[in-house]
Amino acid sequence: MWPDRRLLDLFKTEFPIVLAPMAGFMDAELVIAAAQGGALGSLPCALLSPDKAREQINIVRQRVSAPINLNFFCHEPVDADPKREAAWRQRLTPYYRELGLDPAAPVSAANRAPFDAAFCEVVEELKPEIVSFHFGLPDPSLLRRVKAAGCIVMSSATIVKEAIWLEENGADVIIAQGAEAGGHRGMFLTENIAEQPGTFALVPQVVDAVKVPVIAAGGIADGRGIAAAFALGASAVQIGTAYLRCPESRVIAPVRVALAQAHDNSTVITNVMTGRPARGVANRVMREVGPISPDAPAFPNAATGLAPLKAAAEKLGKVDFTNLWAGQAVRMGREMPAAELTRALAGAALARFAQMAG
Ligand SMILES: Cc1cc2nc3c(=O)[nH]c(=O)nc-3n(C[C@H](O)[C@H](O)[C@H](O)COP(=O)(O)O)c2cc1C
Repeated sequence: MWPDRRLLDLFKTEFPIVLAPMAGFMDAELVIAAAQGGALGSLPCALLSPDKAREQINIVRQRVSAPINLNFFCHEPVDADPKREAAWRQRLTPYYRELGLDPAAPVSAANRAPFDAAFCEVVEELKPEIVSFHFGLPDPSLLRRVKAAGCIVMSSATIVKEAIWLEENGADVIIAQGAEAGGHRGMFLTENIAEQPGTFALVPQVVDAVKVPVIAAGGIADGRGIAAAFALGASAVQIGTAYLRCPESRVIAPVRVALAQAHDNSTVITNVMTGRPARGVANRVMREVGPISPDAPAFPNAATGLAPLKAAAEKLGKVDFTNLWAGQAVRMGREMPAAELTRALAGAALARFAQMAG
């Protein structure tokens, strides 16, 4: 049986497994499939309008009667910096030329909206059981409204200091995101990626530092990883990369190929794709311009200059400019329906616990 029931009892799911929210890579379909398998499904809203988020939640609600986690980014929006963005476009000009694109053509701004009053109204209206944030927590007045709607609040910590801050500022659950994790680093009290601890070191130190339950995230992709997370004191796991190749995800064909071909050393942390550090399979622009570039405009504006390149290259079946967000365990991802994968992960973890108990 599960050695820790704190989050099973809080979430009321069959398994203490959270399907990670993965903005741009999934929608209601993956949430539904993972929930049908017994996991907590997370719906990423960072790339959605409030209306689109409402529509997606309603699809989930119509198809499953399981709890749902709505996920938002809560970064501080920055003012446009036309000089920096022009320099970035200049840096990317050889790629524009190569693809036959005009580097001076206007491009609409990258659309990653932080949690705001309009999203808060969606939460108040649809009352998801759980709301999770990345990059800290929203403004206290908005957070109070989320809590008043009865939602359990979770957020990612990448260092112990962030975990303590989140607990002190109202998080009910901490997601300890180790450096192995795919996607954006949830970091908000540090900017130094070289100092980011891995999951094995981070989870027990966060567990010791806070009273609220802790979810381990980063590099967990099979029963062994889940058992290890519980051994380190976690009360649940959050898994993203391992679900990417499920048929219910929204991963486009050339990205599926890149993920299937990736190895343990294929991913890097880069700021080139969006302006914030994130882990993904290294592609051409990450290799040639980054992986870390001081020229990348602040989040999410680095993505603006890349958008035309991404679209043109994808038409040619290339992922040279496409976010290939994935964690260090990408090789362990399986092409399997998400409900089946969830049950397989839970079954393998339970078998490990039994084996370890001797
Ligand atoms: C493709 C991808 C997209 C992600 N997008 C989000 C997101 O929108 N919101 C969020 O809170 N975390 C996001 N993450 C991070 C996950 O919440 C989680 O920390 C990570 O997937 C755990 O590590 P793993 O990928 O090794 O399982 C993303 C991760 C991946 C792989």
